[in-house]
Amino acid sequence: MEKLAATAQEILRKNWKDGFTIPTSRLYPFQWNWDSGFTAIGQCHFDIDFAIGELESLFSGQWENGMLPHIIFHSQNEKTYFPNYDFWDANVNLGAPQNPKTSGITQPAVHGFILECLLERFPENQKIQSFAKQIFPKIVNLHRWFYKYRDPENEGLIFIFHPWESGRDNSPLWDESMDRIVIDYNELPSYKRRDTSIAPSDERPTTHQYDRYVYLLQLGKKNKYDEKGIFEESPFLIQDTLMNAVLIKSNQSLINIGKQFGFDTGEIEEWQQQAKPKFSEKLWNDELNTFTVFDLRANHSIPHKEIGGLSSLYAEIPNSKQAKALNDYLQNLHQRNFYVCPSFDVDSPLFDSKRYWRGPIWPQMNWMIYHGLKKYAYEDTAKIVKSDLIELVSKHGFYEYFESQKELAAKLKVGYGGGAFSWTAACVLDLLKEA
Ligand code: GLC
Repeated sequence: MEKLAATAQEILRKNWKDGFTIPTSRLYPFQWNWDSGFTAIGQCHFDIDFAIGELESLFSGQWENGMLPHIIFHSQNEKTYFPNYDFWDANVNLGAPQNPKTSGITQPAVHGFILECLLERFPENQKIQSFAKQIFPKIVNLHRWFYKYRDPENEGLIFIFHPWESGRDNSPLWDESMDRIVIDYNELPSYKRRDTSIAPSDERPTTHQYDRYVYLLQLGKKNKYDEKGIFEESPFLIQDTLMNAVLIKSNQSLINIGKQFGFDTGEIEEWQQQAKPKFSEKLWNDELNTFTVFDLRANHSIPHKEIGGLSSLYAEIPNSKQAKALNDYLQNLHQRNFYVCPSFDVDSPLFDSKRYWRGPIWPQMNWMIYHGLKKYAYEDTAKIVKSDLIELVSKHGFYEYFESQKELAAKLKVGYGGGAFSWTAACVLDLLKEA
């Protein structure tokens, strides 16, 4: 275990680019939003300045309206990524910073709970405390942006308009809504993907999906990333489980931190009072016994079992009956010889244990589910989730994601996607450091 922790630390040091961390070299050469949050959780165990620097540099990309972009392009010389800063052209929005350049969409709001984790792990550390006071208003600003612009009808649940915002890029969840998009190929700009020349194409999204990602990006750009126009026009508008659960979890963390440091938390408490019950009432699916995402455009829920529903445990959203159903689901997968927890329903014809978000195991998701299960005292299942991740990393290395079927995994030497991956290293390091 000591060797594993040492390797994790080495990866995080290597991926640190003098002020921020890349998720992995080649495939993702910039700073990614929620990746950075998890990365900070690993960095704090060996260099608190890294962890603070990570979050500071991430928030240097925050827009005037509070939005925190999903990619911060700290270097304009790095040309190997698509879509790069020039394709996003985020400065069509006057509130986007000129420097650093950024993308025009966001990602899950992990920062509130990450900050609370840093404070909990090092309660006496003065540097973390003064950093917490300084970054607190910026995180609140981000949450305010979510509730103001991504919940225009004041329901208590926020929407996404691009699958990349959900962090689960090509999950089968989005298929139906994405398939509704009819592309006029005379209007779609020509583009050249880079990901498939770095990672095997059968582990990546398809061309059909990628065309639609670019279509939605263009729609945002055409609207100057103005949320009102996007809300009116986007064919893809979804209230996602993971996005909302993470926001609710971070609301709670902000309330706790705010109280600790004497900030006014009234506004956050109001969001929370509306959001939490709305989540369990609107997103719970009685037939599937899990939480499901809601398609605002089609006005119906999307009935799939997948990992976003399980993230609700970490935000303590489920009641005890719902939590038991989620725990049973995980236990059943374990008994059926799956690593837990695959990102998508293993019994669905859409399940693909190799392709990105359509089935593999994702380390940062396991980290959240592990802590969620502990909150409900499902210690046995929590142990399985933790030891599965540690086993995968020990056998296959610190990859981006992993084969979820144990029989198939036994035949493999490595994981999937990018190697020497930052959030994998960070989450494992944090789990290994647990008392
Ligand atoms: C992929 C993942 C996304 C992550 C990014 C960088 O796009 O789907 O969640 O943030 O890679 O690791």
